[in-house]
Amino acid sequence: MAYENLLFEIRDGVGLITLNRPKALNALNSALLTELGHLLDEIAVNEEIRAVVITGSGDKAFAAGADISEMQPMTAMEGRKFSANGMNAITKLETIPQPTIAAVNGFALGGGCEVVLACDIRVASTKAKFGQPEVNLGVTPGFGATQRLPRLVGAGIAKELLLTGDVINAERAHQIGLANHVVEPEELLNKAFEIANKIASKGQLAVKMTKQGVNEGLNMDVERGLQYETELFALSFSTEDQKEGMAAFLEKRAAAFKGK
Ligand code: HXC
Repeated sequence: MAYENLLFEIRDGVGLITLNRPKALNALNSALLTELGHLLDEIAVNEEIRAVVITGSGDKAFAAGADISEMQPMTAMEGRKFSANGMNAITKLETIPQPTIAAVNGFALGGGCEVVLACDIRVASTKAKFGQPEVNLGVTPGFGATQRLPRLVGAGIAKELLLTGDVINAERAHQIGLANHVVEPEELLNKAFEIANKIASKGQLAVKMTKQGVNEGLNMDVERGLQYETELFALSFSTEDQKEGMAAFLEKRAAAFKGK
């Protein structure tokens, strides 16, 4: 499929998605979100891709939110459809088997911040700005922030961001656990790829099962989550990678994982 609002390339097993509407600060319109959903469906079943980096085009924004000009005239039912379409696409970032890394190059506001929240790992440039300014527009978040932000940074900090609409810088995002790393703008993609390449070098079935273990576990009570982990651990012994990874350790050599 050809994409009009996204750029996509694969670099050594790492997919790079670029949100690409720079004139509108990469605002997320329905077309972009639908494309993102399709692209993530394709990535999910592509075994060549072992990790995904997502960033914004231009030097100003990751994404400055959902597209306000598209949303302004909407009825409640149209707003519902808009939210559901974006929620579907953005949730795929969380649930595709491969780990996802947000490289936040500038404004990540509203829906833009919600894309970031759905990723597994977040790297921010010193120029990044984060916020959930929906209350300034008379709306609630609609792509997951009321649920994902409190799970990531705790309810108290999340509520302050969600209820005030305050925009925070990268250093504050790092302090509250919203950004894993903060780097200079010219180092942003290098850092994101450094993490992605490291993940891509591991046993891929183990990587995918570990991501799934965390995601599923967050929706279970801890007892069931621990049981689930035991089942995943057992399952990992059905892979060739387990035999290879442990043999390589014992033979003091690097493992040659096959993702089988
Ligand atoms: C549509 C947007 C946009 C957006 C920026 N633009 N953000 N268009 N939707 N979310 C457009 C502007 O209209 C402008 O177009 C161009 O991008 C450049 O933006 P400026 O405002 O001129 O830039 P600047 O003065 O540098 O300010 C940057 C900014 C500001 C602080 C990021 O653009 C801003 O506050 N944007 C809106 C942020 C926001 O409220 N996001 C949350 C949206 S609600 P022209 O044509 O004039 O050049 C949301 C809900 C998600 O995300 C859930 C939905 C279900």
